[in-house]
Amino acid sequence: MIDTAALRRAFLDVYGAAEQTPRLFRAPGRVNLIGEHTDYNDGFVLPMAIDRETCVAAAARADRRVRVFSLNLGEHAEFDLDRPGMRERGIWLDYVEGVAQALERRGVRLGGADLVISSDVPVGGGLSSSAALEVSAGLALASVAGVEVDRVELALAGQEAEHTYVGAKVGIMDQFIVALGRAGHALLIDCRTLETQAIPVDTTETLVVICDTRVKHELSASEYNLRRAECEEGVELLRREGLANIRALRDVSEADFERYGHVLPEVVGRRCRHVVTENARTLDAAAALRERRLEEMGRLMLASHESLRQDYEVSCRELDVLVEIATSLAGATLGARMTGGGFGGCTVNLVRRDRLEDFRETITRGYTGATGLTPNIYVSEAGEGAKEINDEV
Ligand code: GLA
Repeated sequence: MIDTAALRRAFLDVYGAAEQTPRLFRAPGRVNLIGEHTDYNDGFVLPMAIDRETCVAAAARADRRVRVFSLNLGEHAEFDLDRPGMRERGIWLDYVEGVAQALERRGVRLGGADLVISSDVPVGGGLSSSAALEVSAGLALASVAGVEVDRVELALAGQEAEHTYVGAKVGIMDQFIVALGRAGHALLIDCRTLETQAIPVDTTETLVVICDTRVKHELSASEYNLRRAECEEGVELLRREGLANIRALRDVSEADFERYGHVLPEVVGRRCRHVVTENARTLDAAAALRERRLEEMGRLMLASHESLRQDYEVSCRELDVLVEIATSLAGATLGARMTGGGFGGCTVNLVRRDRLEDFRETITRGYTGATGLTPNIYVSEAGEGAKEINDEV
């Protein structure tokens, strides 16, 4: 949780007491329970918002300048809404400017603003620190300009910022859950229609535990775009070879894949098999979670990890080590898998509440022994999506 009183004070320190009183906005990070690398294949995902967040203090300006101060980095930056800066600079301002430009392109008329941003979502840790930044900044900019922005529109603008400013061809999952998460629930999102079903995440007996490898391998961005291209190639070939009506891998059933998968080159075939089976697992997992069949949910999470490791090849040694140690604690861990894009970042685990301390100790000891790194371990309830914070007395 961010200390909002400290954020208000920081705003006054940075911009001076003559400034108007800022309004505060927040957007959470997220963890995906299952449904990995399915979103850009029009498929299904099952993420939840977590209790880590990015907060923005914001006040309108009379001109079209946006000044931003990052409290985490102690850095100032600014841009002009009428003079878009260079794209893909590889700096944090890309996310803020990117979402502002995307909102304007989508017809949301913004004005200048002064912002101070503070976050406790670990950067580059696979918990969607970028989506939290895009969505909180987008919500702040629209709101102080007097515009009530639709949450789906806000999520789409965040995704557009990634495509145009950051250069990552991401799907809609992260921005969507960050903008629309629901307390106490995971959302089963149909990434084609953007329809959702809220599924309660009951934490009486089991907890959602996130383990951070604390590594981020460099290839993640290029490999991500490559996987996406491989999936598109698969769709093209399957369409030519008999599945004429498919638009995306979402339209390919497991039975279709059995029948036509052999026409694909080996690597593309494995990528497609992951997506086809992961979509089926995600729907099964949503049903299992709803009906509290948590052993089954855990089994599906483990199968997801195996598929990501072997077929999709987006795991890495550190993630595999965390999953192996977690699963060695039979009776404590129901399920464990990498979560997010992969190549580092976090695992998500379903752990029996009464075995949490055992889990923590075993993971810390085992992971440190194997890698020399200390993992970060967080327990998170399913939190709410982006909103304005009304904490003023
Ligand atoms: C990243 C992307 C998402 C999604 C996941 C993999 O988090 O931002 O759109 O593709 O990877 O499931």
